[in-house]
Amino acid sequence: MVKERIIETNEGIQDKLTVEIFDRFARIMRDKGWNNVDSIIKAGIVRGKALEIGPGPGYVGLEWLKRCPEATLVGCEISGEMIKLAEKNAKDYGFEDRVKYVEGNCLAMPFPDNSFDTVFSNGSLHEWEDPVKVFNEINRVLKPEGIFCLTDMRRDVNPLIKWFIYFLTKPKEIRPGFLSSLNASYTADEIRELLGQSDLKNAAVSKEFFGLCISGKKAVFS
Ligand SMILES: C[S@@+](CC[C@H](N)C(=O)[O-])C[C@H]1O[C@@H](n2cnc3c(N)ncnc32)[C@H](O)[C@@H]1O
Repeated sequence: MVKERIIETNEGIQDKLTVEIFDRFARIMRDKGWNNVDSIIKAGIVRGKALEIGPGPGYVGLEWLKRCPEATLVGCEISGEMIKLAEKNAKDYGFEDRVKYVEGNCLAMPFPDNSFDTVFSNGSLHEWEDPVKVFNEINRVLKPEGIFCLTDMRRDVNPLIKWFIYFLTKPKEIRPGFLSSLNASYTADEIRELLGQSDLKNAAVSKEFFGLCISGKKAVFS
């Protein structure tokens, strides 16, 4: 039996200290290559104008830009503190001309219809207050045939893997946040149910070793 989902936050990661701790954690994940950039590329997201939802300190999108020289990126992030950090990190990568961060809530994104070639997101879905609204927004801002790829943890992960990763997670201060994020994450069946209520059709949901990957193409007529 999978435990019931427990909401973690509907406001993103706002507190400055938590943002700094998260930056250290995300940097370690980047250095280990555990940030799902491979899944984003495997989904076919390799060029054009991309939107990243909830970039946090930015490493996922910045590493993706490094591997996709024909791409540009816009990040939609609810936390002003995270945006400050992501802008600093983008400068350190030398990518300030290829990436722009916009403060906004992905439940109602500040972008016109059909404005992005691709959309991706890592580790943010479990924080969205209403995923169906966000799936509808992704469908709205994507161009026809635009590709999307959303990766996140899954709550029904094998407990042995859960505790193994818990004890590997550094810095230690992030461990309670790791557990609360996991408890707020979805199972593949829950995501399929939510997608069924949304405009985002043609999505495949796959269970990975530790998480979930939701990917597909926007329909030509939707
Ligand atoms: C756990 S962090 C993941 C950050 C980054 N994607 C990564 O993989 O390292 C989740 C991010 O999503 C942001 N977020 C949460 N809810 C959001 C929303 N409704 N709209 C935009 N960003 C949101 C949070 O502020 C946070 O920066």
